[in-house]
Amino acid sequence: MYLYQYNGKIIDFSVLFLQPSFSAATMSLLPILEFPDPRLRTVAEPVTVFNDELRQLIKDMFETMYDAPGIGLAATQINVHQRIITIDTSEEKNDPLVVINPQVEILTDETEKQQEGCLSVPGYYEDVVRPTNIRLTAQDEHGKEYSIEADDLLAICVQHEIDHLEGKLFVDYLSPLKRNRIRSKLDKLHRQKV
Ligand code: NI
Repeated sequence: MYLYQYNGKIIDFSVLFLQPSFSAATMSLLPILEFPDPRLRTVAEPVTVFNDELRQLIKDMFETMYDAPGIGLAATQINVHQRIITIDTSEEKNDPLVVINPQVEILTDETEKQQEGCLSVPGYYEDVVRPTNIRLTAQDEHGKEYSIEADDLLAICVQHEIDHLEGKLFVDYLSPLKRNRIRSKLDKLHRQKV
C-alpha cells in the first residue's frame, strides 16, 4: 500500500490503481506505462457503461495527454484496459476527439511512411508505414455513435491508438534489432529511475 497526500487528502494508491474510475476530482494526471511494461500488451475490453465515472476518466486522460504533451492517448497506456482513446491533432489543442469502441475501415490502398512517437516509448521516433485514408466509426463519451473520414495525421494517430487497445506498439513495426535496442535503453533508464 502506498499513501500519498494530495491537496490535503490522503490518497491510497493501491485503491487508485485497482479502480481507475476513483473519485478523480482532485487527481487528474495519470501515470503512463512505458515500454517494455507487459501491461501494455493487454487487449482492451469494449466499454458498455457510459456514466459520469467514464466521463471523469476521459477528462483525466485529456489532461494527462495535453500535459505530456501528446496528440493521442489510449486507456491501455494508463493501465485501464477498456477501449477508450483521447485524441487532439490540432495545433491549438482545442479540438478534442473522444474515441470509444472504435472500428476502422481502410479506404485506400495507398500507404505512407511517417515518423511516429509514443508517450509509452519516450524519446524515440521511427518511421512506420500505414494506410493514409480511413473511416472511423466510434462512440463518444455519451455512447452516441459517429462516423468520420480521416487522413494525414489524424488517420495515423487513430491507427496508432487503436493498436494500443490491441496490446500493440509502434515499435512492433520496427526490425527486432531496432526494437531490442530501444527496449534495452528504456530498461536501463527505468532501472536508473528506481
Ligand atoms: Ni502511443
